Amino acid sequence: MIEQVLSLEERFRSTYLSYWKDIHTYPELSDQEIRTAEKVATVLRSLGLEVLTGVGTTGVVGLLRGSQNGPTIGLRADMDALSIEEKTGVPFASKNPGIMHACGHDSHTAMLLGAAHILSELKGSIKGVIKFIFQPAEENSPTGGAPGMIRDGVLENPAIDYMIGIHVWPTLKTGTIGVREGAMSAASDRLHITIKGRSAHASTPQRGIDAIVASAQVINALQSIISRNVSPLDQAVITIGTIQGGSRYNIIPEEVFLDGTVRTFDPGTRGKMPEWITRAAKGTAEALGAEAIVDYKFGYPSLMNNVELVNKAKEVIREIVGKRGLIDIKMPDLGGEDFAFFSEKVPAVFAWIGCCPREEACEKYPMLHNNRFIPDESALPYGVKYLVLSTLKLMEMEKR
Ligand code: NI
Repeated sequence: MIEQVLSLEERFRSTYLSYWKDIHTYPELSDQEIRTAEKVATVLRSLGLEVLTGVGTTGVVGLLRGSQNGPTIGLRADMDALSIEEKTGVPFASKNPGIMHACGHDSHTAMLLGAAHILSELKGSIKGVIKFIFQPAEENSPTGGAPGMIRDGVLENPAIDYMIGIHVWPTLKTGTIGVREGAMSAASDRLHITIKGRSAHASTPQRGIDAIVASAQVINALQSIISRNVSPLDQAVITIGTIQGGSRYNIIPEEVFLDGTVRTFDPGTRGKMPEWITRAAKGTAEALGAEAIVDYKFGYPSLMNNVELVNKAKEVIREIVGKRGLIDIKMPDLGGEDFAFFSEKVPAVFAWIGCCPREEACEKYPMLHNNRFIPDESALPYGVKYLVLSTLKLMEMEKR
């Protein structure tokens, strides 16, 4: 089968590369992927797939039913771009002012369409069902686009057994693919604390309750959560990024506002954070006569790779790029990735497709969300082969 996949990939290469360049030229923001979704749906229909549109907001799902029974595999690509003015200078640069595909989601969409072309040709030998999932609003943190598609039933009917996702990764060379067991990205939550005291003149603190002194102690108490509540074998970060309070040097302020972010990997640790933070903030403020009001907002969960699927993915990666092309990722990424919502529900594997051109120094190559970021064109065929071969590999497994 692998020979057949490789030759089909060559046959459809110019087709999916043209999709990439077209989508790159006309980037669209989160939940506004109208043109992109239309293009995706048109291609999927031309392949004879059953197509659903408007899933979540602008999401598109294509269904390929194989000739024999087997598991259902979900393949996911994101479609949205960012409000960034493009400075790549490529001939197919953005024609939508102030909007740019700076995170490579255009390439994900094109690679998944390429995989749809190839897998459609193999329909006669496919054992199971393949769902091609084109997701809106990956960049729309903390909401994201995956939860909307899940609410609209993308994981059901038929129920997805295993799920595959990719992201182009500019710190890895073209011709390499990276993966790791467990966390690929951190959970990223938002924290807002209001400390309420009582205003007074700076010279008469006994008449007031100093919200600034209370906030200083609250911040210290929060750091004790990391050292005393979180297991030393687990990892977490609480960062207070802004403090606002006070209006004049000689007035004790009534209120102080703290804004921050909480990053965790272990879902248990994450689940306890609101309680730990609320207890530390309220108790500390109360000891000083002040009051703390904690608003904890859950964002993207941690993207968890299933161990068994990672092992299957590694077999595929070795087949495509050899042992040296397989990168064992040491540290998860601390940015968010909303594929995590899928990985919470279904065993999933997410891989990074190296896209730093071979002749470039990758540590200097523009990173994701940079206005000069463009994935190496010759990286896309690796992503397409990976999507197709890992789908075929997972189809050999039992239904869940
Ligand atoms: Ni991205």
